Amino acid sequence: MSAPKKLFIKTYGCQMNVYDSERMAEAMGAEGYVTTEVAEDADMVLLNTCHIREKAAEKVYSDLGRLRPLKLAKPDLKIGVAGCVAQAEGEEILKRMPLVDLVVGPQSYHRLPAMAKAAEAGEKTVDTDFPEEDKFDHLPERPKASVRPTAFLTVQEGCDKFCAFCVVPYTRGSEVSRPADRIMSEARGLVGKGVREITLLGQNVNAYHGAGPNGDWTLARLVRELAKVDGLERIRYTTSHPNDMGDDLIAAHGEEPKLMPYLHLPVQSGSDRILKAMNRKHTAEEYLGLIERIRAARPDMMMSGDFIVGFPGETDADFDATMDLIRAVNYGMAYSFKYSARPGTPAAEKTPVAADIADARLQTLQALISEQQRAAQEAMVGREVSVLFEKPGRLPGQMVGKSDYLHAVHVQTDAQPGQIAKVRITKSAPNSLAGEIPGR
Ligand code: 5AD
Ligand code: SF4
Repeated sequence: MSAPKKLFIKTYGCQMNVYDSERMAEAMGAEGYVTTEVAEDADMVLLNTCHIREKAAEKVYSDLGRLRPLKLAKPDLKIGVAGCVAQAEGEEILKRMPLVDLVVGPQSYHRLPAMAKAAEAGEKTVDTDFPEEDKFDHLPERPKASVRPTAFLTVQEGCDKFCAFCVVPYTRGSEVSRPADRIMSEARGLVGKGVREITLLGQNVNAYHGAGPNGDWTLARLVRELAKVDGLERIRYTTSHPNDMGDDLIAAHGEEPKLMPYLHLPVQSGSDRILKAMNRKHTAEEYLGLIERIRAARPDMMMSGDFIVGFPGETDADFDATMDLIRAVNYGMAYSFKYSARPGTPAAEKTPVAADIADARLQTLQALISEQQRAAQEAMVGREVSVLFEKPGRLPGQMVGKSDYLHAVHVQTDAQPGQIAKVRITKSAPNSLAGEIPGR
């Protein structure tokens, strides 16, 4: 028997890409490929790409350039580009980078094994269809391997909201929810393999409305049904849009202990003028009101968000309004970005804010967010939180896990991955916490 072929995957961008990379690896696994962590050992290198900002997209081309010597040394090496850059640029990638053998978009990656075969036969293929068939119906069952205590599970893909800055509606297509029974059985399968925490993924996950046994299920319904699965201890979901935060979902946060008290709810800006220009379809006050209702249901909710600075037309006053909103919400953590004009989006037609102004705003905003993050971590010191252990830490006898609030926690313990324990937080470090098992 010949040695198995090796596949190296590099994943860029969001958690959905992490999930997609896993499913692609599994699909290739069914064709005899094993994954490798070393690009030099690979028979096929697959870049699962992100198009959200220019930097992310350009990184793909520089990484492809860096693969050139490898391909020269190993002419049989196949190189594939998957994900959102593949979707957005398709054929163009082959023109710009002739070393690429295949280009596959996020909705057609169930066809990857066939494309890999074509590549082995010397044929280049591009598939950026939004096919009639559902890729999930054509992917192999999730295999037994790779037992980790936490897993992602895509429940919804695509977006119909068309925020003026965003490529997602173009790269991921329109909003589609997977049927509830498929999600339930995938979740049960994962739990059977030792998964204790599932993060439900969707570009607009709280707009989930998948077909259920008796009519459509909302995300709240899905969460409540998942909570009944024995062995599944924690449920999270990301990313949400404020306008889809239904009352039933807010209520679930107050009533369902398995639903974790951490919510990523991007607002992008605190200025109504900019929110309108961004086509977000809500005001800053509406967002703040929503947070109030969420915290009424779950007072300890840790909030997370996304912010864009330097959106076309953003003035100092607009930026101040964003800073005010951040102060009002008090985030446990947040991601912030300098606006990046994306081809094909409405905002790309407008005059951008000067780069130095946008840079300065980004720094100011990030300083505030860091301060809030530090304070949120400090506030954990002395508290007891539950930690799901994931893997050994760097020190001997140390394990790392995540608290309910998604903080990384380091603990000296003989607990195994997958175990959940009460931990008393003793210390806050820049990006993690340290704790001990009480009574030791
Ligand atoms: N420029 C900068 N940031 C962007 N995001 C999305 N599109 C852009 C863009 N064109 C940010 C938003 C979104 C996160 C995933 O990326 O904040 O919530
Ligand atoms: Fe990037 Fe958006 Fe695609 Fe995720 S869905 S990889 S964030 S462009």
